[in-house]
Amino acid sequence: MPQFWKPGSERPRLLDDEEGGVLFYTTSSSSSSGFGYASIEKQRQRLPVYNYRTAILYLVETHATTIVVGETGSGKTTQIPQYLKEAGWADGGRVIACTQPRRLAVQAVASRVAEEMGVKLGEEVGYTIRFEDITNTGVTRIKFLTDGVLLREMMDDPLLSKYSVIMVDEAHERSLSTDILLGLLKKIQRRRPELRLIISSATIEAKSMAAFFQTSKRRLGLEAEEHGPRTEPAILSVEGRGFNVQLFYVEESVPDYLQAAVSTVLSIHDQEPMGDILVFLTGQDDIDAAVQLITDEAQSNGKSASGLIVLPLYSGLSRADQDLIFSPTPRGKRKVVISTNIAETSLTLEGIVYVVDGGFSKQRFYNPISDIENLVVAPISKASARQRAGRAGRVRPGKCYRLYTEEYFVNEMSTEGIPEMQRSSLISSVIQLKALGIDNILGFDWLSSPSPEAMVRALEVLYSLGVLDDDAKLTSPAGFQVAEIPLDPMISKMILASNQLGCSEEIITISAVLSVQSIWISVRGAQKELDEAKMRFAAAEGDHVTFLNVYKGFLQSDKSSKWCHNNFINYHAMKKVIEIREQLRRITQRLRIVLKSCENDMQVVRKAITAGFFSNACHLEAFSHNGLYKTVRSSQEVYIHPSSVLFRVNPKWVIYHSIMSTDRQYMRNVISIDPSWLREAAPHFYRQKQPNPIAL
Ligand code: CDP
Ligand code: MG
Repeated sequence: MPQFWKPGSERPRLLDDEEGGVLFYTTSSSSSSGFGYASIEKQRQRLPVYNYRTAILYLVETHATTIVVGETGSGKTTQIPQYLKEAGWADGGRVIACTQPRRLAVQAVASRVAEEMGVKLGEEVGYTIRFEDITNTGVTRIKFLTDGVLLREMMDDPLLSKYSVIMVDEAHERSLSTDILLGLLKKIQRRRPELRLIISSATIEAKSMAAFFQTSKRRLGLEAEEHGPRTEPAILSVEGRGFNVQLFYVEESVPDYLQAAVSTVLSIHDQEPMGDILVFLTGQDDIDAAVQLITDEAQSNGKSASGLIVLPLYSGLSRADQDLIFSPTPRGKRKVVISTNIAETSLTLEGIVYVVDGGFSKQRFYNPISDIENLVVAPISKASARQRAGRAGRVRPGKCYRLYTEEYFVNEMSTEGIPEMQRSSLISSVIQLKALGIDNILGFDWLSSPSPEAMVRALEVLYSLGVLDDDAKLTSPAGFQVAEIPLDPMISKMILASNQLGCSEEIITISAVLSVQSIWISVRGAQKELDEAKMRFAAAEGDHVTFLNVYKGFLQSDKSSKWCHNNFINYHAMKKVIEIREQLRRITQRLRIVLKSCENDMQVVRKAITAGFFSNACHLEAFSHNGLYKTVRSSQEVYIHPSSVLFRVNPKWVIYHSIMSTDRQYMRNVISIDPSWLREAAPHFYRQKQPNPIAL
């Protein structure tokens, strides 16, 4: 176990701004909900937000926009939609919407609310996430959905007319879709004075959010001004009683944060009184590895083996696994939940007394100069660190073990995170806004404006994809079709191209696989076996064609979970692939794309991929012995990721699906191509970028 400051021991110098390592959280009351003693009604009444029920309903009645700030677990997400329904906001066929940035949170809160209301999920209470619609039109009164799905709904119903109240939750996360949604909702408000907005979050600069929604009086009609709601936003903050969380920092920075997290958990289990542990790591791979290590080590040292229930928490988890996370810990047992930052504010787990904070999360970063967007494991902000610590103080005083030094926290961590808008590629956002008829994108009412470079890059790629015309308007039909498909525009374009090339069956399979996290199971220490399993399916052309082989094998096995297990393939991911593929089949049929198989002609499949992803082309550097590639667009140095079947094969020309950076920039999901296809697919793009065509 890494060395931590001991409680009560003398600390050399107080660097912290956090009162000697003790945080005072003004959080929830001492709810015992989740432990199964109180009736659901009692549990609801114990939540801090309950004391504000009348105030919230009054503010919503009288104000166009209400901003609600309250600590995680105070009941905002699960209670406010119910209060609104009880007050009649869902009468007359209207619907109350509540958005979340994360799919898993949507599912979890919807099922909790259905349970509290004693109804079947998908009837009065339902949810919609991409590729999964658990609602019943005409019956569903409270609908949870991702912010991205609500944006999509605007394409069919620009004024979102079926909703009476829209609650934009977790606004502090400032996800890309939340930001765009807020800008659009502000526009809708002008046309629909009867619509109410609630913006809720755990921490927020409520004032700047309020300033954003302050509509000038002139803009609303006179009638609205006299009879309608007040236009200046109301701000309400939910106060609650909380428990102290004692902070511990490592004395020296840890070389392996995964190992440090594992040993910290084991020693908490050894030395500390009962209470569940929540560990923050970055992604599925690390989390699965940590679950495995803790389980193994606990078993091997006998005495602590009993009593530990170790569970992973990340998006893409099956429903059964989610239920385990939320079900009460049996007496005499200790639950250890190893999570991504989804448990930071989106979900409340009852019974957590100890938090282990690894200090990192996976974040999207986009560099408009290199035109590379990737997921990077990056340090969290102080704001996130405080939220994470706060998760320990819910049921009684807790402890938070930070796997970074106090100096690091004080001197190195940034105060707040950067909004996703300012660290993302804008391709998807631009196409969505265009599809909603917003032509002047730079003049859009952004909560925080994106960089002009990123905007120019996005317009350039969309123009080359044939999605925008010379006047930067959506082309017809291609542009509108691409906007219609709920996938990354480059994937959508690949699907459209496959229609002409006669390989749409294959391409929608590939699109479905690219929409799940990974179809492989990674087991720490079993890398060799995994690689061998992969070789059974590996195609010389690259990963995309390999996916087709796996899919074929899965169908031939009659979708057997045993077959998946034997081949290191994730059964749940494959079932998801089948589901997504089925939905894509329906969407493409609507777009009049004829489903056709190219049988074994993989050249057309690779051409279709090139048609969508030409801007991700790379060539192998001449005389490179270590597999160094450069991107054609901006000469960035990249390498093939070891998980790719083309690792060490190093074809001369490749196209990647995404970039992951660790020590280097790695291309994930790679296919070999013929460079002449690039000019065929995007003459404008490659002419402009490469005035001297020798590079191709
Ligand atoms: O949104 P906020 O963080 O303010 O709180 P919430 O998500 O509405 O949670 C209120 C209560 O519901 C907490 O005590 C949660 O533990 C409980 N809850 C639950 O038991 N199971 C869920 N799936 C979601 C919430
Ligand atoms: Mg919430």
